[in-house]
Amino acid sequence: MAIREIKAKELNTREFICCQAEAIARQVGDGYAINALSGGVDSSAVTMLGHIALGDRLKTCFIDNGIMRKGEPEEIVRIFKKLGVRVEVISAQSKFFSALKGIADPEKKREAITRTFYKDVFGTLVKKSGARHLLQGTILTDVDETVAGIKRQHNVFEQLGIDPRKAFGYQILEPLVRLRKDGVRKLSKALGLPESIYNRPPFPGPALAARVIGEVTRAKIAVVREATAVLESELKKTRAFQYMAILHQDRVTGMRDNRRDFGLQIEVRCWDSVDARNARPTRLPYPVLERIARRMTGEVPGVVSVTYHIATKPPSTMEVV
Ligand code: XMP
Repeated sequence: MAIREIKAKELNTREFICCQAEAIARQVGDGYAINALSGGVDSSAVTMLGHIALGDRLKTCFIDNGIMRKGEPEEIVRIFKKLGVRVEVISAQSKFFSALKGIADPEKKREAITRTFYKDVFGTLVKKSGARHLLQGTILTDVDETVAGIKRQHNVFEQLGIDPRKAFGYQILEPLVRLRKDGVRKLSKALGLPESIYNRPPFPGPALAARVIGEVTRAKIAVVREATAVLESELKKTRAFQYMAILHQDRVTGMRDNRRDFGLQIEVRCWDSVDARNARPTRLPYPVLERIARRMTGEVPGVVSVTYHIATKPPSTMEVV
């Protein structure tokens, strides 16, 4: 059955929060629910809706998969603590890196992350917790793109015809599924989340692994994490929809200290978009690009080349993997 979209401009946040909190409370009954918080606007909004509906009967976990940005787990825990929501950090780095070992194919990387997340880490947590319900921040764009076969989103089993109760033993609740990103931002503001969350550029489920071309290793993630920190500090004041640093697989020749340095190549992408379905590279001022290049080559070990992506989506996608 087609999902009826609620457009951001017609979203009545107060009514939506009320209805969704009631629906969650009704579906969960006197049991427990669990959710995984990544700190993105979608999972943050779901955490708040679940918290309103269930209070302490919602167990919120942050899975530290080793592929998040610098300081991310600590920052998310701090933000939610201020809002009265306890977040448990689950350390699972080695599980994810072992699952990613030797895989270069983009879809297989995504699959390895999905499998590790659901079956090995979160699936085990859910079973141990006794929760029968899982709250998830799937939005309409995720459904569209998965159904269209554009991409395997990790959070739309039901739309793919997989019964999560049979496959994993729990039921998934998706209170945001009628919204797109702009609607979720409006909702998140109304839910009392701070601007750093509701105006935060989206960050994909496969995290920094979506920004490493080829095999993902701890060392490559460390490079892309530093490059991301530089880029985010330079672009956080832009009004761009999303920006990212990508570590290329190929090495390129550069010069450092008068010697040839066969080094790393970072691609920068910065997108203007409303809902991520179409996107156009932001026309960043040249001095900003120059500063980014200077900082990346100066501060990120091994980087000798920085490029800016100028093709639109479609045919490009926003992420590179
Ligand atoms: P693409 O690369 O498909 O990205 O143009 C569109 C938007 O979706 C985000 N994205 C993801 N989000 N899980 C997510 O939760 C994913 O696997 C995933 N892949 C892409 C991307 O960052 C952009 O905002």
